[in-house]
Amino acid sequence: MAFPPDFTWGAATAAYQIEGAWDEDGRKPSIWDVFSAEPGKIWNGDTGKTACDHYHRFREDVALMKELGLPAYRFSIAWPRILPDGRGKINQKGLDFYSSLVDELLSAGIEPWVTLYHWDLPQVLQEQGGWLNPAIIDAFVEYTQAVVGALGDRVKHWMTFNEPQCFIGLSLQQGVQAPGLKLPASSITKAVHHVLVAHGKAVDVLRARGGSDYCIGIVPTTQTMIPATESPQDIEAARRATFCHTSVRPIIWTLSLFTDPLFLGTYPSDILEVIEKDLPQGWEKDMSLINRKIDFCGINLYSGKRLHADAQGNPVMNPVPAGFPQTAIKWFVEDETLRWCPRFIHERYKIPVVIAENGLSMTDWVHLDGKVHDPQRIDYTHRYLRGLHKAIEDGAEIKGYFHWSLMDNFEWSEGYKERFGLVYVDFATQKRTIKDSGYWYKEVIQSNGSLITG
Ligand code: NOJ
Repeated sequence: MAFPPDFTWGAATAAYQIEGAWDEDGRKPSIWDVFSAEPGKIWNGDTGKTACDHYHRFREDVALMKELGLPAYRFSIAWPRILPDGRGKINQKGLDFYSSLVDELLSAGIEPWVTLYHWDLPQVLQEQGGWLNPAIIDAFVEYTQAVVGALGDRVKHWMTFNEPQCFIGLSLQQGVQAPGLKLPASSITKAVHHVLVAHGKAVDVLRARGGSDYCIGIVPTTQTMIPATESPQDIEAARRATFCHTSVRPIIWTLSLFTDPLFLGTYPSDILEVIEKDLPQGWEKDMSLINRKIDFCGINLYSGKRLHADAQGNPVMNPVPAGFPQTAIKWFVEDETLRWCPRFIHERYKIPVVIAENGLSMTDWVHLDGKVHDPQRIDYTHRYLRGLHKAIEDGAEIKGYFHWSLMDNFEWSEGYKERFGLVYVDFATQKRTIKDSGYWYKEVIQSNGSLITG
């Protein structure tokens, strides 16, 4: 099945997960340096101090991308490298690193897709309240200006935030990710609003620099709600479960908490009823800023849950059959994960969708023949791309797919236990080995998806 001719294929990473060089060339600590230094927070006491040492090996890594035939590469910028004190003095060496990376990518024919914020907040800003302090909005604007000033002549694809649900929900509410706080719902609501306003202001900065030449998006995440059958009732129940908070999840995990303000300029009414009392004063006047026109909705999707409609049309989760396929991190493998959520987003907001992350963790190792055989990754990706193709057949405008991840890396609180890469990394020697899935993905790209069969 061929994908649209202008479809973008790529792979993704994030700064803290691959760069290492945590205290080099003027970089100061992020919340992840501090959190991972705390005993018991990260599996095995792992940290991102060295990670994949990408900071020193980026040329080798770009060569690997070229060998994989990647047309696009999504990566994030580390705020603490650019503004080590959160605001104020710009660290030129930090900018130089990303500038060299962008040059290296472009000379390899690879399009850079830049995420401004993938969770590594400067620790100093956390100490001033982080996302709870409205002053962070101007700090984010300042940071965006610094990045765009240095890279904006060559980078055309931008994403403001990666997975706000996680860096608010897991980090500030559940306390399992940096900075590890367990704040009440009233604070969570404020953090959500501040992130949304920071997004809108950053979009203004980007637009002022790049106009319609820039392709701008944001990247939320969710778990796909998959209708158990294709009956109109089950499809409608899955749609409702995707966007209504009353169904199956706490508010922070409800997609529309973010996507309705971003693309409709309003908080969903069922959610507003609950959160309005905690929104910052004068929040209404921010809504048009939050609702700035952007070019795509990125979405990170890994797994889905099946559900059906009861007699009243309410969504009811199906039980998971015994022995259901799971990845190493125990996320369910559901073939239609990339079909329904992108389709629902496109229908509701009429905005093009980019799969900004999708992939799976496995327990890969180097086999006796020196290669890394990872048939599960090939099978999983094949199934998921088939699902994505169905979304396109259903009429959804899907612009691209980025595999997570380019290479094995620091999986946050799971440390190095999980391997998500198309490229295997031996963390003791930093030797890279392209996995079977990497070579397979190369052929998928070369065939523009024709290799994916129904
Ligand atoms: C989402 C996050 O954006 C990324 O940082 C993480 O490694 C992957 N999903 C896998 O959990």
